[in-house]
Amino acid sequence: MNLILMGLPGAGKGTQAEKINEKYNIPHISTGDMFRLAIKEGTDLGKKAKEYMDQGELVPDEVTIGIVRERLGKDDCKNGFLLDGFPRTIAQAEALQDLLQDMDQSIDYVLHVDVPEEKLVERLTGRRICPTCGATYHVVYNPPKEDGVCDKDGSQLIQRDDDKADTVKTRLSVNMEQTKPLLDFYEDRGYLVTVNGDKDIDEVFQDIQSKIEK
Ligand code: AP5
Ligand code: ZN
Repeated sequence: MNLILMGLPGAGKGTQAEKINEKYNIPHISTGDMFRLAIKEGTDLGKKAKEYMDQGELVPDEVTIGIVRERLGKDDCKNGFLLDGFPRTIAQAEALQDLLQDMDQSIDYVLHVDVPEEKLVERLTGRRICPTCGATYHVVYNPPKEDGVCDKDGSQLIQRDDDKADTVKTRLSVNMEQTKPLLDFYEDRGYLVTVNGDKDIDEVFQDIQSKIEK
């Protein structure tokens, strides 16, 4: 199954992607995670991406398309993939169509996780992540068993640099501008499925399952 998860920052793409990956065993490809890893490793890609991410801006299309092309070319994507946070511009969506055509593949569903804008700031500023395994928590909605500590490996949880209040505002406005034309792009092609993301994490996952198993 070839899936794309779309949604504004904080909509719950990463949270649902973890669940989809566990249940359907398809590789979770998050451009945001790939950039964060590159930053952690101090690579040239990481240095470039950091300039944009710290400001809440999008990383340039040619850079982003390049890393996705490389990732989709790996063997584990032959039996399906789950793209999270890509594409985010029409140029990226068009590049993906070309790439998939070359791979003799197509998209099954574009899942749009829809959450009212006013809920997103709270979700983002309350998010905590594990620097070791990447697990995502929320101080109110999805707290770890022990305050500030990852359930899986005991690491101290941290806040993402771009989850500080100022950057969050820019991220939301940058992404809102790009989202509408992208939704239209996939609606026109018949791939778009909208899921109400303003429910419990498990309820959202139930909805996703019922839609993709139809
Ligand atoms: P990226 O890492 O993709 O960030 P994003 O799109 O801003 O999305 P988030 O990871 O913030 O949110 P999410 O939807 O995954 O929410 P989550 O599940 O964590 O991108 C970061 C940056 O990288 C971009 O700003 C850009 O610079 C660059 N970049 C990445 N891709 C790019 C591209 N294609 N082109 C150009 N640049 C790119 O949930 C959020 C919080 O809410 C968590 O705390 C979670 O526990 C909680 N939560 C989740 N679901 C629920 C629920 N149902 N109810 C209550 N709380 C919930
Ligand atoms: Zn962890």
